[in-house]
Parts: sequence; structure tokens; C-alpha cells
Amino acid sequence: MSSFWNAYIFVLTGIFLLGIIGLIYFTRRMPGDDKIGETTGHKFDDIEEYNNPMPKWWLNLFYITIVFAVGYMIYYPVGNWEGISKWTSANQLEAETAAYNEKYGDIYLRFLDTPVEELQNNAQAKRIGQRLFVNNCSLCHGQNAQGYYGFPNLTDNDWLYGSDADQIKHSINFGRMGQMPAWKDTLGTQGVSAVTEYVLSISGNEYIESQAKKGEVIYQQMCVACHGAQGQGNIALGAPNLTNNIWLYDLPEQELRRDIMTTVMNGRAGNMPAWKDILGEEKVHLVSGYVYSLRN
Ligand code: HEC
Ligand code: HEC
Repeated sequence: MSSFWNAYIFVLTGIFLLGIIGLIYFTRRMPGDDKIGETTGHKFDDIEEYNNPMPKWWLNLFYITIVFAVGYMIYYPVGNWEGISKWTSANQLEAETAAYNEKYGDIYLRFLDTPVEELQNNAQAKRIGQRLFVNNCSLCHGQNAQGYYGFPNLTDNDWLYGSDADQIKHSINFGRMGQMPAWKDTLGTQGVSAVTEYVLSISGNEYIESQAKKGEVIYQQMCVACHGAQGQGNIALGAPNLTNNIWLYDLPEQELRRDIMTTVMNGRAGNMPAWKDILGEEKVHLVSGYVYSLRN
């Protein structure tokens, strides 16, 4: 905090406290004062204000609050003054986090020896995994892991990077980044159109036959390396299967043909963050178990 604000807080609080003390001093009335019983002259609607001393208990409460305020400023940090307690919110958080970890840390650790495949058989492990998922993953993958445009559905049979426990855990630990190149410059709009019709044809959608024929030639040259000769995909690269009619990039309100064209024209780079350092090994293990249990 700058020294200006530091002084500002001290001076303002000081003036305020002195003002309160002054107010009490100048308006004090002792029992036995000769003015007792007089009115102040204020009168409204036949109600008159008497000039009586404050009740003792009330006045004492007032003194206590002043003493409290001064004590508070000495005990707690104000501006650059650390206070005799040396309290800071960061320290408090640290202490609470340490206590939390001591209490719950082993709840996560307890399951580290259970294989990912078997975590779903333990109700507690599954519940914790699900909670971790809702808190960390649902933003992108959806509350029920059903996915959305650009974010894979984790409850279906279609896996970009494989559905084995190890593969799922690897996806979560280290993140993933699928790299689909852009073909606009190489193929031109006509080439992209043609190969789009071919992709529509191998995925069981309506297509234009003459175009698809041309597209197949392009596909066999440009796309097989990643998507495979039959369009079955490649989990080593995260290249999706193009034959099962399950799409990563398919806006509900848009024709599929246009989604595929956009993908092939401009390329894609879906980015799954790495969680190893954020969640730690034991939580990645538990959330892997939950994702594994969603496999269909
Ligand atoms: C910022 C958005 C985002 C968050 C948060 C996120 N993911 Fe992902 N995730 C993605 C994207 C995008 C992909 C697809 C990557 C690609 O296209 O190559 C993905 C892929 C995956 C895959 C691989 C799916 C497959 O088909 O092989 C798994 C498993 C996964 N995520 C699990 C998780 C879990 C568990 C969490 C929470 C700990 C999580 N994700 C959080 C965006 C996210
Ligand atoms: C270098 C490897 C590579 C090549 C070559 C490649 N792709 Fe891809 N393709 C990918 C990857 C990886 C993805 C997934 C992108 C992501 O995860 O964001 C993808 C995604 C796609 C998708 C979107 C699938 C969906 O589920 O929405 C289509 C369609 C596609 N590619 C078609 C093609 C066509 C057609 C060609 C040839 C002209 C081609 N790809 C060439 C790697 C490749």
C-alpha cells in the first residue's frame, strides 16, 4: 500500500475517534446538573425534547466501542503497521489449507493403489471423481460429460486418444492438442468441397456423387496419413474417425456439410489442458476412474 493511503487511513480513523470523544465531551450532562428537567426547546407536534443526561449504560457502551477501536488498530494490521497479531489473510488461508490437507489429503491418497478400471466399483471413489469432474472439467465437457462443439463427448464410444485407462489418464495428466492442418491454400475451395463430399459419403450422410469421386482421390493423397485409409482415424495423433458420424465440430443449428468444410478449410486445434500440476497425481487418478466409468 502506498504511504499516502497508509497515512490516509490512520489520519481519517484518528480524526473520527477524536471527533466521537469530542462529541461526548461537549454534550455531556452530569446527574445533578441544574439544567435537568429543562427542555431543549425542540418541539414538534406537541412532543418536546428534554435535556436529560444519556443513560449510563449507553454511555459506557460508547466508551467501550472507542477502546475497542483503538485496541483493534493495535492488534490487527492497519496500512503498513502489521499489528501485534501479525495477522494476514494469506497466512490464514495457508493455515486452513494445511489443516484441510491433513484432514482430507489421505482421502485422495487412499485410492492411489486401486487400478483406474476398478475405481468405479467403490462408491466413495466414484463420488469424489465425479465431484472433481464437475468442478474442473464440466466447464468444457459439460455437467454430464456429454461434450459440446469442439469439446469431446466422454460418454460415447468414440475416443480421439483411446479409451484404455492408461490413455484416458494420459489425456488428463498431460493434456492433448489435436492438429488438423488448414487446406484452403493447398486444395482451393473446389478441392475442399470435393473432399467434404467424400467425407460425407464415408460417414453415411447424403452426398453429391460426382464430387465425392474427385474427393476420394484428394483424400487418398492428403488425408490418409492421419485419418487412415478407411477414414478410421488414428489415436496416436488424435485424428478423429470420419466414418462413425460422430463429430467434434458440428454446430447443432448448422448443416453438417458447412461444419466439415470449415474444418477442412481452416484447420482445427482443439486444446485439452494438462491437469497433472493443477490437481496432482491422486486427484487425476480419481477423475480418470470417473471418466473411465463413463465409457460406453
Ligand atoms: C478448457 C477446456 C477443457 C477443460 C477444462 C477440460 N478439457 Fe478435456 N478436452 C478438451 C478438449 C478441447 C479436448 C479435445 C482435444 C483435441 O481436440 O485434441 C479434450 C479431451 C479430453 C479427453 C480425451 C477424449 C478422447 O476422445 O480421447 C479426456 C479423457 C478429457 N478431455 C478429460 C478431461 C477431464 C477429466 C478434465 C478435468 C480434469 C478435462 N478434460 C478438462 C477441453 C477441456
Ligand atoms: C496431420 C494430420 C492430419 C491430416 C493430414 C488431416 N487431418 Fe483432419 N484432423 C486431424 C486432427 C488431429 C483432427 C482433430 C482436430 C482437433 O482435435 O481439434 C482432425 C479433424 C478433422 C475433421 C473434424 C472431425 C470432427 O469430428 O469434427 C475433419 C472433417 C477432418 N479432419 C478431415 C480431414 C480431411 C478431409 C483431410 C485431408 C484433406 C484431413 N482431415 C487431413 C488431423 C489431420
